[in-house]
Amino acid sequence: MERILVWDFPTRLGHWLLAGSFVVAWLTGDSEEWRLVHAFAGGAMVAVVLFRVAWGFAGTTYARFGQFVRGLSSALSYLKSLLGHAPQHFTGHNPAGGWAIVLLLSLTLITAVPGWLAYQEIGGEWLEEIHEAAATVMLVVVLIHLAGVVVGSLAHRENLARAMVTGLKLGEANEAIAGVKPLAATTLIACAAFGAWLFSR
Ligand code: HEM
Ligand code: HEM
Repeated sequence: MERILVWDFPTRLGHWLLAGSFVVAWLTGDSEEWRLVHAFAGGAMVAVVLFRVAWGFAGTTYARFGQFVRGLSSALSYLKSLLGHAPQHFTGHNPAGGWAIVLLLSLTLITAVPGWLAYQEIGGEWLEEIHEAAATVMLVVVLIHLAGVVVGSLAHRENLARAMVTGLKLGEANEAIAGVKPLAATTLIACAAFGAWLFSR
């Protein structure tokens, strides 16, 4: 196996926009003073997620949902293999990571919609409660996601966080994707900026 390009640029950029905005949203959630920045970060997340859903159908090989959305039994079998001597290796996302991805994308929308409604002062306190509860569930899934990244990196002796920066992972030469997709990345930036503007109005 050698280092090959697995994650295209829009997938990587979207990931770090999502991760960065999530941190900003968490740090600013409690404060009235930072509410605009909070809504801005949440809006960027929504746009990145919507872009990512489209990219899950139109993107390069390993960005596609068809590549990494697997049943619960595949996820369990992967997790079990981590305990043995020969953990299953996937060039793209592993099936347990696939579950975390679907949950994180869904939770972003489940959190942001009541957040936006509360921001517009539509609905009552219950929407704020739902927003807070969803954000807390999301934090738990993010922490599990981070634990998964650490465990996966150790099991496969491969720095997965760095791979999400460079796009390069271990695989066979013929499994590499072809391009970085600069046009899609530009579209993603425009979407994120629009989402941030729209949600913070
Ligand atoms: C510093 C914190 C973080 C690190 C180091 C990190 C690292 C990673 C890595 C290494 C992957 C690829 C996993 C694999 O190899 O299969 C990944 C995927 C992913 N992470 Fe994170 N992550 C972080 C924070 C977050 C946060 C806060 C979110 C969501 C709010 C998030 C959402 C996702 C999603 C949706 C994917 C799938 C990427 C895609 O295919 O589009 N991550 N992350
Ligand atoms: C998906 C990303 C988001 C996360 C992780 C998040 C997280 C949080 C957290 C942790 C709080 C503090 C709750 C509390 O302790 O009272 C909060 C409050 C709030 N958020 Fe968000 N939020 C997100 C998106 C949004 C968006 C997009 C908007 C509006 C456009 C928004 C509007 C609000 C408002 C108005 C509050 C105050 C509600 C209250 O007084 O309890 N949030 N958010």
